[in-house]
Amino acid sequence: MPVIAVVGAQWGDEGKGKIVDLLAARAQVVARSQGGANAGHTIKRGGSRIILHLLPSGALSPDAQCLIGPGVVLDAGALLQELKELADLGISLKGRLTIDLRTHLVFPTHKLLEAQQETQLGNQKIGTTCRGIGPAYSDKAARRGVRLGDLLDKSRRLATCTALFDYHAALLEKIYHQPPLDRAPLLAEAEFWAEELASYAGDSVRKLREAVDRDQVVLLEGAQGTFLDLDLGTYPFVTSSHPTSGGPVVGIGLPPGKIDFVLGVLKAYCTRVGSGPFPTEMDDETAKLLRDRGAEYGATTGRPRRIGWLDLVAAKEAAQWNGVNGWALTKLDVLEKLPTLKVCSSYRIGDTILSGVPLTIQGWADAVPLYEELPGWEDGHEARDIDDLPDNARNYLAKIESYTGVPVHLISLGAGQEETILPRGELVQP
Ligand code: IMP
Repeated sequence: MPVIAVVGAQWGDEGKGKIVDLLAARAQVVARSQGGANAGHTIKRGGSRIILHLLPSGALSPDAQCLIGPGVVLDAGALLQELKELADLGISLKGRLTIDLRTHLVFPTHKLLEAQQETQLGNQKIGTTCRGIGPAYSDKAARRGVRLGDLLDKSRRLATCTALFDYHAALLEKIYHQPPLDRAPLLAEAEFWAEELASYAGDSVRKLREAVDRDQVVLLEGAQGTFLDLDLGTYPFVTSSHPTSGGPVVGIGLPPGKIDFVLGVLKAYCTRVGSGPFPTEMDDETAKLLRDRGAEYGATTGRPRRIGWLDLVAAKEAAQWNGVNGWALTKLDVLEKLPTLKVCSSYRIGDTILSGVPLTIQGWADAVPLYEELPGWEDGHEARDIDDLPDNARNYLAKIESYTGVPVHLISLGAGQEETILPRGELVQP
């Protein structure tokens, strides 16, 4: 199973970091193809927690090649900071990180613009991570973005950076009534980024293809989650990229037929950060309990996450849209000791029962989740074999499998790598 795509099946924060880290130890190549520093993959190593925002999780495996595809938007400052933090831990990416020359850059002014846009939206705001993601993808789509190749080309650097900066400065001044900005610091920063990033720049698409042709184990690391997809998610409360399994096809030029296995990461309950519809959201003592037990605070922004029961309707849609071959079910331990659990098994709008998720934002807002109740269980987090899980925990898994039609391949019962059950054996042979 050499090419595995790991996708979030909910609203992000499904616990992809641990899953990708587990698999990265066996992968020769780990690639990011969408999103930017809005992602936050938390990885536990020994006693410390490491949060990666831009670097593929393979960064922590000394022999893995790390690729950043053209579909990513690159905050050069954030990436350099991450490289420095890893260097302080004795981890070097020299010679094993390739950032595609076609990758678009996030400017500091993208973040300034985003802050203004969010403020102007008032209580309709998206609740973004304020990492400049939406404005950077907007400039890319409008064909005025600056790519890494422009930054490294001395004959284009000044002109391209100046043009984009001046456009942003005009927007900030004329539309958002902000004071004029000085170009000089940005241009100096751009020079610095060019010096620091030159040795990592290259053709990540070709490197990926060569790895696939050599039958190497390749991990395609998705960021965010299916319902934050720009086209399929709860628009406009979405991110500006494609976290679905098509992401690597457009974002790092992988031919569609080359993905051997789509591993959907599904948290045993749901969370969401930022605004937007969330049918199974609960706002009671159980939500507080799960937030605390599950440490449900944003890895990038520290915001408390909204909490909801498992939404099987959404999970089934995610399975179908992404072509999920197997689930990695995370944070099952967090549900322990609840007397009963609810799972949403259909939505109702007025008198109509929907057969899938709503297609409009009003539909999402109006959808009433209909629940089935399942009995809870006491203790199961120490199980290391499927047969050691309490019966009711196994019933919960069986419900997910039968409803979504997708088998569970991995169960995570804690942040540590050993707190894992592989009911169908290893995903990647050692
Ligand atoms: P943006 O990606 O910063 O533009 O934010 C758009 C929406 O996606 C907001 O609701 C964010 O909270 C959400 N979002 C972006 N990245 C992540 C993530 O890695 N995990 C969970 N939510 C995210």
